[in-house]
Amino acid sequence: MRDTPPAEPAAAAPADDLAGRRLVLGLTGGIACYKAAELTRELAKAGATVQVVMTEAAERFVTAVTMQALSGRPVFTSQWDLRAPNAMAHIDLTRAADAVVVAPASADFIAKLAHGLANDLLSLACLARPRERCSLLVAPAMNREMWDHPATRRNVAQIAADGAAVLGPASGDQACGEVGDGRMLEAAEIRDEVVAHFQPKVLAGRRVLVTAGPTYEPIDPVRGVTNRSSGKMGFAVARAAAEAGAAVTLVAGPVALPTPRGVARLDVQTARQMHDAVLPLAAAHDVFVATAAVADWRPAQVAAHKLKKADGHDAPTIAMAPNPDILAAVARLPRPPYCVGFAAESHDLAKHAREKRERKGVPLVVANVGPATFGRDDNALLLVDAAGERELGQGDKLALARALVREIARRLPAAQEPR
Ligand code: CTP
Repeated sequence: MRDTPPAEPAAAAPADDLAGRRLVLGLTGGIACYKAAELTRELAKAGATVQVVMTEAAERFVTAVTMQALSGRPVFTSQWDLRAPNAMAHIDLTRAADAVVVAPASADFIAKLAHGLANDLLSLACLARPRERCSLLVAPAMNREMWDHPATRRNVAQIAADGAAVLGPASGDQACGEVGDGRMLEAAEIRDEVVAHFQPKVLAGRRVLVTAGPTYEPIDPVRGVTNRSSGKMGFAVARAAAEAGAAVTLVAGPVALPTPRGVARLDVQTARQMHDAVLPLAAAHDVFVATAAVADWRPAQVAAHKLKKADGHDAPTIAMAPNPDILAAVARLPRPPYCVGFAAESHDLAKHAREKRERKGVPLVVANVGPATFGRDDNALLLVDAAGERELGQGDKLALARALVREIARRLPAAQEPR
C-alpha cells in the first residue's frame, strides 16, 4: 500500500464556491434587469465581489441605488465617470476581474459585442478586457422573435466563436406575453453557470454515466421496499462531472432532487429498470460511477391489487428474489468504462471496500459510512484502488464530489479511443 497522501483541504461549503472571485456584472436594457438584483445577491452570497456596471438603458429598468445596495460597491454607469483616478474606468474595471458577466444581455448589446462596438462603458470594458484571464459570460434576454432573428443568431454565433460563454437563454413565458425562447435564466441558474465556469475542465470530452438514489421494489400497488439513500451524493457527482466538462447521463431512482444543469437524466424505479437503462448506455461512456443504493432483493411476486388485511394478509411472508448487480454487469462488459463503485458500510470501511473492489471487478471503490451520510449534506469518503487507500476527508457532498472527479480524471487513460 502506498503512503496515504494528506487529505484534501476541508471541503468548501457551497457558500465559498466563488470565494475570491472578482466579477464585473454588466446590466443592459431589458425587463430581466429585475433578476440581476437577485443575481447580485446570489453571486455575493457565493463569495464573489461584484462590481456592477449598467448601461443607460438598464437604468430605465432598475436603479443604480438598488444595485449599489446589493453589491455593496458604487455602480459605474458612464465612460465619462471621473471616479477612476486615471479617468479610465473602462480599462481599470477588468484588470483585476476574473470574469465579466453580462446579465441581462440585450439583442442590441450582443450585436455590439459581435462587432466590437464600444460606445458605452460596458461595451468598452468588454472590448478592453484581458481575454486570457478575464472571461466573458453572456446571459441573453429578449423577445423570442428577436432571439430567432437571423441577425441575432449570427451575432450570438460570432461572440461564441470569439470565446464568450453564452448562458441559456431559457424558454417559457415572456414579459411581452408571448411564449418561447429568449427568457433570461434564473439568478440561481446563472450563479451555477458562473461557478461551473471556474471549475477545472478535467473531464472535457469525456462521457460519464452515474446512478443515484435508492431503488423502489413494489410489493403491491401501494407498498414497496426501498432504503434511505437520498441521491444527494450521486447528484453531486453528476453535477461535479458536468462542471468538469463531461457529458453526463444520470440514471436516478425515486428522489425529489432537481437535475443538475446540463445533465441528461433518466428516472427509474426498480433495480431491474435501472439495470436495463444503464447496460445499453454503459459501453458508450468513459466512466461509470455507481452511487445508487440498489436494492439487493425485490419481492418475488408483485401483487396486482393492494394486499388487504381482510384477505388474510395480516402478516404476509414476502418471498424475495435477487436483483441483478448493475455495477458488476457493467464491469464485465468487453470494453467497460472506468468503473467506480460506492460502498456504504457501517464498520471496517477499508476492509469491506477492498473486498467489494475485488468481488465486483472494478478499479476504484469509494467507501463511506452509510448511516452517517444518508440524507445529509456532508460526507467523508475513502478511496480504495489497486495502489492503496486515500482519504478525501470530511466535507459537503458537492466539494467531495469535485475532489472525487479530480481523482477519477487522474486515473483515466490519457488518450482513450473514441467510443
Ligand atoms: N450496486 C449495483 N447493483 C446492485 C447492488 C449494488 O450496481 N444490485 C452497486 C452500488 O451502486 C455500489 C456498489 O455496487 O456502487 C456497492 O453496493 P453495495 O450494496 O454496498 O454492495 P453489495 O455487493 O450489495 O454488498 P453488501 O450489501 O454485502 O455490503
